[in-house]
Amino acid sequence: MPSSALPAWLAGRFECFDHPSTLAGRVAELLHQELSDGLKRPLGLATGRTMEPVYDALVVRLLALPAEQLTAIRERWRSFNLDEYVGLGPAQPGSFAAEMACRLVTPLSLKSARLQLPDGLAANPAAEASRYAKAVAAAGGIGLQLLGLGSNGHVGFNEPPCGPDAPSRSLRLSAATRHQNAAAFGGDPGRVPAGAITLGLEQILGAERILLVVSGSTKAGILARLLSEPPAPSLPASWLQGHPGLRLFVDRAAMGG
Ligand code: GLP
Repeated sequence: MPSSALPAWLAGRFECFDHPSTLAGRVAELLHQELSDGLKRPLGLATGRTMEPVYDALVVRLLALPAEQLTAIRERWRSFNLDEYVGLGPAQPGSFAAEMACRLVTPLSLKSARLQLPDGLAANPAAEASRYAKAVAAAGGIGLQLLGLGSNGHVGFNEPPCGPDAPSRSLRLSAATRHQNAAAFGGDPGRVPAGAITLGLEQILGAERILLVVSGSTKAGILARLLSEPPAPSLPASWLQGHPGLRLFVDRAAMGG
């Protein structure tokens, strides 16, 4: 899509990169800036393959800092992840807690309690979802929210159909999402947990600023829909279009080459 054909709501909020690595480097730069600026409100973090090179680039940047700057970042780190699978905890590979530990906590020697996620092992996932939303609210809401785009248009695990006021909740994952995320479970969609706890669109849209990151040719179809369709429950990410702090970062492959 030529930039002249971008929708009006994206004006001044769009960056496209030739390579996934330069895209990841740019997003890591913005996360680093947010961490250096003092984190007035917590970061909102996401998992998934899109974020792997972003976190790797962030780790490289932060480990290159003078020791006192890195220590200051470690001490002020506060983040809430979007979601977690029901039935998986930090000790289980495939859990988002394990992914955060491996990508950020271990390489940066962060205190794991500073990176919060919903507790996938909670006996009552619905109660855990509302506890988690209250914890986000008590922390003042999210400052900068990092978001990936699901191949069916979900953000977090807000599966279609989904309205803009959807609360944090426990829900069943769609077949499309279990298929999308099968790689982390030996390629078998049947091994992807059937349920998840997610922050709702209500909390996501409550963030001050949002960085939506879309990478790779497998996202070209859903990104084209996001850029051409009006907001509707069938495309949960479409509710981001009206957010005043939204910025979209893509690579050329996601734009269709
Ligand atoms: C997953 C996560 C989302 C993620 C999205 C895209 O299911 N719940 O938070 O952003 O889907 O994932 P990926 O980056 O692996 O394509």
